[in-house]
Amino acid sequence: MTETAHREADPRHQQLISLHVNGEAHEVLTEARRTLVDVLRHDLRLTGTHVGCEHGICGACTVLLDGAPVRACLMFAAQAEGRELRTVESLADGRELSDLQRAFGEHHGLQCGFCTPGFLMLAEGFLAERPQASKEEIREVVASNLCRCTGYQTIVEAIDDCATRRRAALQQRLDETRTDETRTDEARTDDARTDDARTDEVSADEVSKGGARTPGAVTGGTEEQEEVRCGSTARSR
Ligand code: FES
Ligand code: FES
Repeated sequence: MTETAHREADPRHQQLISLHVNGEAHEVLTEARRTLVDVLRHDLRLTGTHVGCEHGICGACTVLLDGAPVRACLMFAAQAEGRELRTVESLADGRELSDLQRAFGEHHGLQCGFCTPGFLMLAEGFLAERPQASKEEIREVVASNLCRCTGYQTIVEAIDDCATRRRAALQQRLDETRTDETRTDEARTDDARTDDARTDEVSADEVSKGGARTPGAVTGGTEEQEEVRCGSTARSR
């Protein structure tokens, strides 16, 4: 057993940390010096996050910390306590790939795939912050991760296509919401008109049938007031 393994097994060098990853809470007994990427991969078995340079250069280990892309090789797992972590495993819904993952496939934005989880999480975090991002902005952002296979063009196109589709879907939802609101307003107006018409009918009916019995309903005064008025009228006659 190596010295490192000895030290990891020694409870004096370990601490219990709580991590919230992909919507799930985890408690991990680990050394304070262990990096986030090691804990994600080896303790939580979330092996989608890859390890390349371990120096913050390649971006293969990119995950989202409170929605922002970070290099998981450059931070300790203990530093992520109380924060919201997302790894590439959070993108797909079961076997259903996310729109971003599908775009990478459609545009051939990957070859060996080693860098892909990092690019996906980088793009996911970036598009959440800049949904209106231009192709130039996307190109600038992806330059922070390394891919030796694709020449970047297809990665940029995949992210741009995903962003365009998300904007179109959002616009469609907004249009539908506006249409629904307009329909609701029109329905309310129709109901109000119908209620007014019914009130008018009832009032007219009361006038024709029982106005003498309930003079207040016609004149707007109380029955008592009407009696007084009638009385005074009678007296004045
Ligand atoms: S493994 Fe983290 S940046 Fe390369
Ligand atoms: S697809 Fe191979 S390094 Fe990017």
